[in-house]
Amino acid sequence: MLGGIATSVLGHAHPVVVSAVSRQIKTLSHVSNFYSHPNAIELAQILIRLTGKKDSRVFFAQSGAEANEAAIKLSRKTGRTEIVAMNGSFHGRTMGSLSLTGQRSKKIAFAPLLKNVKHIPFGDIKKARRAINSKTAMVIIEPIMGEAGVIVPPTNYLKEVREICTAHGVLLAIDAVQTGIGRTGQWFGYEYSGITPDVITVAKGLGAGLPLAAMIAVGESSQLFIPGDHGSTFGGNPVTTAASIAAIKWIEKNKILGKVKADYKCISTALHAVPGVTEVRGAGLLIGIELSKNNSAQVATLLEDSGVLVNAANPNTIRIAPALTVSKIELRLFIKVFKEVMSRVN
Ligand SMILES: Cc1ncc(COP(=O)(O)O)c(C=O)c1O
Repeated sequence: MLGGIATSVLGHAHPVVVSAVSRQIKTLSHVSNFYSHPNAIELAQILIRLTGKKDSRVFFAQSGAEANEAAIKLSRKTGRTEIVAMNGSFHGRTMGSLSLTGQRSKKIAFAPLLKNVKHIPFGDIKKARRAINSKTAMVIIEPIMGEAGVIVPPTNYLKEVREICTAHGVLLAIDAVQTGIGRTGQWFGYEYSGITPDVITVAKGLGAGLPLAAMIAVGESSQLFIPGDHGSTFGGNPVTTAASIAAIKWIEKNKILGKVKADYKCISTALHAVPGVTEVRGAGLLIGIELSKNNSAQVATLLEDSGVLVNAANPNTIRIAPALTVSKIELRLFIKVFKEVMSRVN
């Protein structure tokens, strides 16, 4: 029920991914970044189409942290250096992305990190208004905070942050590493807000189990990097991009986004009814189950003993993020086992 932490969007060994990867590795497995190749171009075009913004450009990398590193570098090209990020957020563990991450426990041993990163409370628009100004290069936000325990911001939060960024000429970066590629029933997880970001970072589900990430620069921000500014030897490799193209096309063809939205309705109703559950939140197949006691680690261990993998995201929250292909039967089985475990611990 964790999908490699929101990564294996089509589960394991999906035939379309196996066949696309096998076909590709028989011909061309790598090409240096002096050159391009058809898969990278096709995938970039697909991602641009999915953003709905034709004037976007795509940089490929291998991990979410690297996609966010690219966003940090892009923001420096505005001529400004300050970044605003959220308390509790997770953006990766490289020195730059760790500087954006809003969790002290993950950073404390590695100081000093990047200077000029301010962290503000997620969802507090007054604090955002105070923190963002004409010195800010970029604001970075997860549309739903995943690692923190699937925290959903107030309805208009992204829209209001967008307005503040626009007023001060600040890049708004959406970290869709965890929420992207259909996870929330939308392509990138921010679409519910109606905003247009300047930068979108994706990874996890993008490679359908292979290491692939992207930074998508939208509109004017797509002009900030010039050739030579950034690069990656393996970024957008022919094999990983083949997997991604196959997975995205399969998701589109089989209308999986609609299925994922319907799954949320069905599973959240069933979970709400389980004694010991106080809240069910999230979107699509990124779900946080809040427990009445601080016993999520115990619940996760008992579930694992019963053959079900989940994540204890914080002391009272269980996070699930199964493959988007998870069946109704598998979801029902999860609910059954979860109910049994909850009755044992409560
Ligand atoms: C929102 C978000 N951003 C960035 C990352 C870092 O991605 P990676 O582990 O691929 O570097 C993660 C990983 O969990 C994430 O959830």
